[in-house]
Amino acid sequence: MYDWLNALPKAELHLHLEGSLEPELLFALAARNQIALPWADVETLRKAYAFNNLQEFLDLYYQGADVLRTEQDFYDLTWAYLQKCKAQNVIHVEPFFDPQTHTDRGIPFEVVLTGIQQALKDGQQQLGISSGLILSFLRHLSEEEAFKTLEQALPFRDAFIAVGLDSSELGHPPSKFERVFAKARSEGLLAVAHAGEEGPPEYIWQALDLLKVSRIDHGVRAAEDPRLIQRLIDEQIPLTVCPLSNTKLKVFEHMGQHNILKLLEMGVKVTVNSDDPAYFGGYVTENFMALHDGLGMSREQAQKLAQNSLDARLC
Ligand code: ADE
Ligand code: ZN
Repeated sequence: MYDWLNALPKAELHLHLEGSLEPELLFALAARNQIALPWADVETLRKAYAFNNLQEFLDLYYQGADVLRTEQDFYDLTWAYLQKCKAQNVIHVEPFFDPQTHTDRGIPFEVVLTGIQQALKDGQQQLGISSGLILSFLRHLSEEEAFKTLEQALPFRDAFIAVGLDSSELGHPPSKFERVFAKARSEGLLAVAHAGEEGPPEYIWQALDLLKVSRIDHGVRAAEDPRLIQRLIDEQIPLTVCPLSNTKLKVFEHMGQHNILKLLEMGVKVTVNSDDPAYFGGYVTENFMALHDGLGMSREQAQKLAQNSLDARLC
């Protein structure tokens, strides 16, 4: 089954580049940049990947991202991810990056972007993987800081297809970013947002009505609101669902409780994604495999999920 799932042509629409930083590369970049790490070795770091909620993960994820310093580091990070995609027949990617995680540490915006962009270009030319980059704002920071980030990005407007919204969800509703998303859309950028991962269905309504998003990232808590589910079905709004992430972060206690196949059968346009594969135990194929093992996903359902990912591309 793994080989069959692996061979399905797929798109990945919910992937944080910083979340694809494998412990081995993290240690290699720390050595290259002469950074002392609080973990003795790769194994010790891997053992720390046990989370009770989103915030516990984010604390480690931001700490890990500190080894990314140079253009080459961002290139190597992105290139390693694209090679995984090639191995799993992921033919199109729309990855996120979090500029504020880096600019707040004094890394220039241009250093981050140039490294990522060069790898995406090589991915297209050497691996045949098409891509569209999404600039994501950190929602635990202010809207003013998001505006500053957008200003830094606009000279490179053509490098992006969309803006996104991630980081700590509870207490940071989409409404907090209504104006900065309006500005981004006025520049011709599309919009997506994390909503309904840990946050309530209300955050999904806000993402749709206030941020005017084309897709919802996660969105699994929509299941609590029948009117919202009906809207997602009627308007065929894609949800970029991340099964292994959801179980690792205890959104669902185990895969047997995940609602992705129920949503699929109801007619919601759900897709399968890896979110932060280095931290959650797998890339796209491993996420499909987990649905097979934990939920008894059929081949027909897998085909539909893979087709949905191709249909839900922004570019
Ligand atoms: N940043 C990286 N992964 C994330 C997730 N699953 N939710 C919110 N912010 C994130
Ligand atoms: Zn995410």
